[in-house]
Amino acid sequence: MNDILGYQGQNVVITGAASGMGRAAAQLLVDLGAQVYALDIAEVTVPVARALKVDMKDAASLDAAIAQLPADIYALFNCAGVPSPPFGRDDTVLINFSGLRYLTESLESRITEGGAIASIASTAGMGWRGALDGVRRFLALDKGLDSARQWLQDNSETVFDGYSFSKQCIIVYTMSRAAELAARGIRINCIAPSPTESGFMVALKGEGQIPDEAVELFLPPNGRYATGADMGQPLVLLNSKLAGFVSGLNIPVDFGYTAQVLMGQRDDLMGIGA
Ligand SMILES: NC(=O)c1ccc[n+]([C@@H]2O[C@H](COP(=O)([O-])OP(=O)(O)OC[C@H]3O[C@@H](n4cnc5c(N)ncnc54)[C@H](O)[C@@H]3O)[C@@H](O)[C@H]2O)c1
Repeated sequence: MNDILGYQGQNVVITGAASGMGRAAAQLLVDLGAQVYALDIAEVTVPVARALKVDMKDAASLDAAIAQLPADIYALFNCAGVPSPPFGRDDTVLINFSGLRYLTESLESRITEGGAIASIASTAGMGWRGALDGVRRFLALDKGLDSARQWLQDNSETVFDGYSFSKQCIIVYTMSRAAELAARGIRINCIAPSPTESGFMVALKGEGQIPDEAVELFLPPNGRYATGADMGQPLVLLNSKLAGFVSGLNIPVDFGYTAQVLMGQRDDLMGIGA
């Protein structure tokens, strides 16, 4: 088989593979011949090499999974995440960012030269410039989930919205780590998806009681919700050898939403251009 993306026979680790974007990426990686290790709190139905139950906000459960992952890893896909509401502020930050950071830093010595890390941020994180001081103070902690939890309790005035803060952290973390990882030949990027039909969206609108009209303010100019595959595919591309000189980027995957905002063609509701 023509292995233009370079995944054939490679070990890859992916969180959030039970549903949505992560499931789409995991299926594609299996189809491309990768040995896929999937980490999720829910059951993974994609026929991966190994599925491990983890709770991203629980260091002991992450450690148990990390112990079962291979010594050499080609690519890490950080896809697990929850909306807030309905999840509480601190749990949202711990699941969406602190667990992601803990896993990334626990595995990065196993990532081989030429390997890569890709995470899912959000349009909601793209106002990171306005929150940089608080984000940097949070990132200055060690990777431990206990320190993160304590800091969130002590700094409740800094974090108004757990979801936006968690995604701002992913973007700033991605850019901050790029140079250091480049020295070892490893790339790191993230994507910022526009609204996507998935378990996340069901939870946001259902239990979270966010009305359709509020979400639709962020739909791309093509007027449609993305699918899991619309996001899973660019993630697989970003971590592939075809993107071998791409690092340190947050890439909006939004069919032109960010472009419209930056060109003043629609309101900047997230402070993206600030
Ligand atoms: N759906 C959207 O509109 C949208 C937009 C921007 C960003 N995102 C981000 O995209 C990523 C993927 O979400 P999705 O839309 O595919 O939603 P999804 O709900 O379909 O998938 C999320 C996955 O994360 C897993 N997960 C949730 N909590 C977990 C935990 N504590 N430990 C381990 N796994 C856990 C779920 O079981 C699920 O498999 C998330 O990080 C989300 O924040 C989503």
